[in-house]
Order: sequence, then structure tokens, then C-alpha cells
Amino acid sequence: MEIFARKITDADKQTTGCAVAPVFARKTLSRAARNLDKANGGLISNALKNGEMAGDIGEILMLHIHGDKPVRRILLVGCGKPAKLDANAGRKIVAAMLRGIKGCKTRDASVHLEELHSDKLDLPELCEFLGRSAAMATYTYRETVSKPKRALAVARISVNCGEVLSARKVSSALKRGQQLGDGINVARNLGNLPGNICTPGYLASEARKLAKAHSKLTTRILEEKQMRELGMGSLLSVSAGSSQPAKFIQMQYKGGKANQKPYVLVGKGITFDSGGISLKPGAKMDEMKYDMCGAASVFGTLHAILAMKLPINVVALVAASENLPSGTATKPGDVVKSLSGQTIEVLNTDAEGRLVLCDALTYAERFKPAAVIDIATLTGACVVALGAHATGLYSNNDKLAEQLTRAGESMYDRAWRMPLWDEYQKQIDTPFADIANVGGPGAGSITAACFLARFTKKYHWAHLDIAGSAWTSAPKAATGRPVALLTRYLMDRAGV
Ligand code: BES
Ligand code: MN
Ligand code: ZN
Repeated sequence: MEIFARKITDADKQTTGCAVAPVFARKTLSRAARNLDKANGGLISNALKNGEMAGDIGEILMLHIHGDKPVRRILLVGCGKPAKLDANAGRKIVAAMLRGIKGCKTRDASVHLEELHSDKLDLPELCEFLGRSAAMATYTYRETVSKPKRALAVARISVNCGEVLSARKVSSALKRGQQLGDGINVARNLGNLPGNICTPGYLASEARKLAKAHSKLTTRILEEKQMRELGMGSLLSVSAGSSQPAKFIQMQYKGGKANQKPYVLVGKGITFDSGGISLKPGAKMDEMKYDMCGAASVFGTLHAILAMKLPINVVALVAASENLPSGTATKPGDVVKSLSGQTIEVLNTDAEGRLVLCDALTYAERFKPAAVIDIATLTGACVVALGAHATGLYSNNDKLAEQLTRAGESMYDRAWRMPLWDEYQKQIDTPFADIANVGGPGAGSITAACFLARFTKKYHWAHLDIAGSAWTSAPKAATGRPVALLTRYLMDRAGV
């Protein structure tokens, strides 16, 4: 799909399969709609008079044109009261537009946005969101179904912002949005793939593929033997029960100057989490194929920043493993030694995410990072606390926490900061090791973060618990979050 800027003064003169025009509250036509109405003998005003649409936000109405006219269809989109146009309204309008375009058989559409400009609605931001949403609408899961669901099939969308903005500004916003949307789709697809396809080895091959396609990206895969030699006993205790070998994936993007400190992203890549010997109940266990969505968001973010050619350095680390029970699996009560030297008592083999992450976080030290951000479907407790709307955010640095919060806010990919107070640390003390891997029934998302905090004292660090935000259960699908938040954060660091 192509999406680009175009300057048009008369909406009715442009040849298009579908002209998309705003209608405001109380049946008030936008200029584009008035223009199309006049050119089609009052078709629009008649329809509104008949009560087909009021102009409330999110409403759509498709009108088909008879005869030999350049505009074949008119999609009217309700935009509500002009005084109430803000980013939130803008997102609803964009969603309605794409719903309407997807619903008809047009190959191309021409969208008129100029009148949506307001103090509280930034048009370039809206264009970026349109680019992102259009790219996301082209995605459908295909890999293992004979008849994939229909996706947005339109080949071209032109966007008209009239005199308000330069075509160059509109184009670059659309393009940025599209690059972000493509990255989000990468994360969605990895999350949707079943555990028998998306194995640790599969993630490693994705990393190699990405490096082959981009000269500024290099990749290195550590095998279990190398991890053992390094001393990653915690990570290896998770893969001990699986016949799929764990992979530690390192990808290095050098878009900035050689002496610039890198931003390090660390993704939890549990390609299936059965709980191990502390086996999970059967209901919804299939959903634990999503337990690599942290890793998926790292891949998606890399895709986006590679497309944008951001002038910064980024290191991506993915700790990939299955978590399965077997005769060789780690047992509750086992004590393992992490790469940091700290010993860990594995009280519950289902708290495996922190076990793979802690070794990756220690490994991250060697890059002398500007900041380290880990992303993980870490705890069911985070879903209880925040549901699906917010990612749980933890950090040992206020400025980093604020930058991430703001990035999420501006991209509608929100995170909410949670406490890492010292008082919680007591819950993961144990007489038999330096740390226990679970901290009792209270504050499960916080004690998981406290566990990670013990491995991240040497740098600025943030942890994103995406257990609730990374997918939806009805319909079952990976959301691609928090690729938008992470990409925005890195764009901000790069000054884009
Ligand atoms: N991958 C799960 C967390 C999870 C649960 C993600 C539900 C998405 C939805 C994680 O490995 C896990 O099992 N955590 C346990 C921790 C507990 C044993 C302390 C949990 O949340 O129950
Ligand atoms: Mn688990
Ligand atoms: Zn897990």
C-alpha cells in the first residue's frame, strides 16, 4: 500500500475510487463535502436530510455515484463538534475512515483532512497516526490458516491537507507512521505465530535475516554451550526442561557515531510458557505462546528504526527459551547461579521470565549503555493491576521514566509508573540463596520488578511489564505494543 500527500482544491475533480470527506456535528458539511455535494446534485445534503447521518464522531456513510464522474464513491465520516477536535477525536476519526475504506471494494482513496486542523489537534501527528493505522490495517494473520481474514486491500491512499501544511510535512508524517505501523505488524505477527513455529531457533533466524538485509545491523547468537561458559546459569535453568535449545540473541544497530553510548533493549523471549514443573492450569494455556511478545516488540522496534535510519546506536538482546516440564527440568527449591554471581532459589518454575532476563540484564553492562529498557510479559499480577490499557513501567531513574511515559502518551501506547520501593525487596529474601524468584501473593508485578532491580544497579534502567498490553483475548491477537512507545522514545533520543 502506498500513502502519500497531495494538494487538491476541488475534491470533485480528482479521479478516485473513494473520496473521504468530513461531516461535522448537526449535519454540517466540510468544504470538501460541500464541493462534492454540489458536483453531485445535492446527493449528500439529501442523504443527511433523510437522517442517514448526524455527523457524530465515528459515524460513516458510503454514497455511490451514478454516471461517469471522476469520484466513484463518497465516504462521509462523522467528526463531531469542531471545538472538540483533539488527538483522541482524531484517532476515532481515522479509525472510522479506515473502517469505511476497508468496507468497500475501492483500490484507491482520497482523504480530505485539512479541516480537522485545530489548536488541540496537530495535523502532522494525525497524518502520522493515519499512516500507522493504514499500515496496521493491511495486516492479517496468514501463516497457518487456509483462508486468511480480509485485510485493508486498497493500493493507494492520497491525503489532502489543503493549504494548512506543506506536502513535504504531510508526506514525511505519513511515511513515519507507515514505517512504525510496519514495525508494529512485525511484532504482531511474531506474537501470533504458534509455539511450534516460533521457537528460540526461529527468533534467532529472524535476527540473522534482519542483519543480512541491513548493513548497519550485526547479529550474534550465543548457543547454550557459550552461555554455560559465560555463567548464565539462571537463563539455562529455564531451558533445562526443553528439547529446543535456548538462544541468546544480540543485535547491534550502529546508526550513530562510534563513541555514542547505545540504548539497550532487552526482550523476554519465552516462546512457550507451560510453567515448567510448576505447571500452569490448562485453561488459556495456549495463550502462553505470546510469552515472547517482549522479544517481538524488540524486533518490531528494530524494523521501524532501521526503516527510519535513526542516527543513534541501539543494542537489542533477546533471551529466548521454552519453559517446559521434563525429567531434566529445574525443580522448585533448586538453587541456580546467575551471570552476576548472585544465587537464586527457584521457588516457582513459572516465574521464569525474571530468570532469563536477569542474565540478559547483566550481559547488557558490557555495552556501557546510555539506558537499558527491558520489555516482558512478566506477571499475571500486572494484568490484575492495570488491565490491558496500560503497560506497567518501573525505573531506577526518574528522567528515564518520564521520557518513556511521555513517549507512550503521545503515541497512545501508554505506560503507568509503579513503585520500586525498598520495602518490597524483603519479599524476595530467602534463607537458601541470595534471592528467591517469587515474593509471595502480594504485589506480584512489583516484586518481579524488584527482582530485576537487583541486576540493574550499574546503569539507568526501565522495565516494561506488558503482560496485559501485548495482546487481546477476544479476539485472540497480539497487539504489537509497546513498539510505538519504544520507537517514539528512540526517535526523541535521535532528535527526530
Ligand atoms: N508469562 C507469565 C506471566 C503472564 C501471565 C503473562 C498471564 C501474561 C498473562 C509469567 O511467566 C508467569 O507465569 N508469572 C507468574 C509468576 C508467579 C509464579 C509468581 C504469574 O504471573 O502467575
Ligand atoms: Mn511463567
Ligand atoms: Zn512467562
